[in-house]
Amino acid sequence: MIECKNITKDFGKQRILHGLTFNISDGEFVSISGRSGSGKSTLLYIVSTLDLPSTGEVHIDGNNLATMSSKKIHMFRNYHVGFIFQFHYLLPELTALENVLLPARNLGLVDKYEEIAQSWLKKLNISDQAGKLPGQMSGGQQQRVAIARALVMKPKYIFADEPTGNLDTYNAGLVMDILEETNKKEKTTIVLVTHEPDFAARAQREIFLVDGRISSREEAPVF
Ligand SMILES: Nc1ncnc2c1ncn2[C@@H]1O[C@H](COP(=O)(O)OP(=O)(O)OP(=O)(O)O)[C@@H](O)[C@H]1O
Ligand SMILES: [Mg+2]
Repeated sequence: MIECKNITKDFGKQRILHGLTFNISDGEFVSISGRSGSGKSTLLYIVSTLDLPSTGEVHIDGNNLATMSSKKIHMFRNYHVGFIFQFHYLLPELTALENVLLPARNLGLVDKYEEIAQSWLKKLNISDQAGKLPGQMSGGQQQRVAIARALVMKPKYIFADEPTGNLDTYNAGLVMDILEETNKKEKTTIVLVTHEPDFAARAQREIFLVDGRISSREEAPVF
């Protein structure tokens, strides 16, 4: 479970998040949506242990992030978290398959996961890219490699920032189907940042941001 208590985030003198309080329960599929610049990625970084709020507290599975040792946070990420970023961070010198197996490699479990990794590449329509380096793939193919990497260890949490951003309608739908299925079958907690209203609506709950405050789609100003 993730508990956010009155979190703010400042960059210099600018306040980006203004005192947000909410919980995300185990097994929930939550979307974070809102216009460009509303603070979605900033909030996701905080919720997903990658950044700390300026004030306020984040507790994950009962642990206060601010007081967790960096070793404990690393262990938590390796074992329990799948990340899918807006600017995905594939390692350029590793092939698609090796990138997908990176979390397994960190835990010394490559042999156990090789077939599973291949099956994810297949599900995401990129089996034929398995032996290629990221620089030899299209943006959307790279994005799907990052998605396979996030899923391969069956993490307890998946944090995804615009995972469908680079994809055509067909593959974006496929990724949404896979996330939904993972949430239902594996009870994975998913926090999905998206500015696509249709995708946001597929989550069980939507956290809608307007200028760093939780609002509702109905109350948002129309531009
Ligand atoms: N490291 C940073 N330093 C200074 N300002 C930042 C930093 N990161 C984000 N911001 C600012 O915080 C605000 C929110 O940024 P954020 O990336 O969270 O928006 P977003 O909702 O994810 O937008 P998008 O849909 O375009 O990805 C923006 O005004 C941005 O310029
Ligand atoms: Mg963003």
